[in-house]
Amino acid sequence: MPETPDTSQPELFTWEFAADPYPAYAWLREHAPVHRTTLPSGVDAWLVTRYADARQALADGRLSKNPAHHSEQAHRTGRVGIPGERQADLMTHLLNIDPPDHTRLRRLVSKAFTPRRVAEFEPRVQQLTDRLIDSFAARGSADLIHEFAFPLPIYAICDLLGVPPEDQDDFRDWAGMMIRHGGGPRGGVARAVKKMRAYLLELIHRKRADLGEDLISGLIRASDHGEHLTENEAAAMAFILLFAGFETTVNLIGNGLFALLRHPEQRALLQASVQRGETGLLATAVEELLRFDGPVELATWRFATRPLTIGGVDIPVGDPVLVVLAAADRDPARFAEENTLDLARKDNPHLGFGHGTHYCIGAPLARLEGQAALATLLTRLPDLRLAADPADLRWRGGLIMRGLRELPVSFTA
Ligand code: HEM
Repeated sequence: MPETPDTSQPELFTWEFAADPYPAYAWLREHAPVHRTTLPSGVDAWLVTRYADARQALADGRLSKNPAHHSEQAHRTGRVGIPGERQADLMTHLLNIDPPDHTRLRRLVSKAFTPRRVAEFEPRVQQLTDRLIDSFAARGSADLIHEFAFPLPIYAICDLLGVPPEDQDDFRDWAGMMIRHGGGPRGGVARAVKKMRAYLLELIHRKRADLGEDLISGLIRASDHGEHLTENEAAAMAFILLFAGFETTVNLIGNGLFALLRHPEQRALLQASVQRGETGLLATAVEELLRFDGPVELATWRFATRPLTIGGVDIPVGDPVLVVLAAADRDPARFAEENTLDLARKDNPHLGFGHGTHYCIGAPLARLEGQAALATLLTRLPDLRLAADPADLRWRGGLIMRGLRELPVSFTA
């Protein structure tokens, strides 16, 4: 009997899929580029996998970020809010609101969180990076997720915000709780969010009485046509900066190193370049790592508020739309040699930081941390190697983010 080619749809959201979702995304891009599926949570949503469709959807004002527009949610709860969430104040943040509220808050935060402030922070990021490497350099082995990728962004954002050093380990614990449990505000996570909120409100209160040069003071000071952030808004803003800037950066460092360790020729090129003190290849390398295996697999939830068509498919009002950044960034219609890691890639308009109204406000900080982390590791630990079979490494669950649970390495002490 002649063999029939296997064109059946691959299974999504299994363990094999988590380890390498790219073949399944290639199949979707080819056969079902705008595809309605049931998520592990039981919620039905549309997955958008082609680059052109993804870009259009990310910038489409008919897709709302406000969860109240989810038909199922509206039907079930009859109220505005995130399912099961009780921390409405912290959750009313940039990623859950639409213009004009979004425009107002984003303008205010942009006045405080400027590229200049980030650039001035560079020596501090370098110091943190070196200090973390010092803590394991003499041992000859480390888990680079727990000992490096995880603490670096949390300490960096705490410093930037102006959280005093003696309180930063509390943040590390709360953030650890959130990362381990996927970020949904339930159980232990709800307690962590509650503690963080109380702490942030108290800190904002104290700073208001004694403004400094840190970002929280900047948020309090920021004014737009005489308008300021309320204390709740400033707390929600500090929270989303921490939350959006934490696991993402962990994954940029983790996924990025993992890709480098598995592509020795590319790694050698980058290592030689940073050892010569150059920055050009380092900059394109971080962009390519964001494209090749980026930290955010799916952009955050969007909901149709008006009928719309994506890639020729009609999306009913109230339906959730998930833009699959990881699929779009390997679309052969946009990227030549889409599955090849090319650290010198020039034509690289990846969607790793999103696109449109909600484009990542932390991109300059993420780039700074990513570049410092990779360059310093490759320079200080030049024979860094993976200390596990790549197939044995575990990936964190969760829908939105893509990142390793652990990254064991060895090197000459
Ligand atoms: C938004 C990715 C680091 C703060 C976003 C979005 C993406 C993204 C894809 C848009 C989500 C959507 O439209 O659904 C990343 C990646 C990072 C990173 C890949 C690291 C490599 C950071 C950092 C911060 C930050 C360090 C701040 C300290 C934010 C905020 C938003 C955002 C506040 C919401 C912006 C808005 O809604 O207007 N990020 N991010 N991110 N990011 Fe990042």
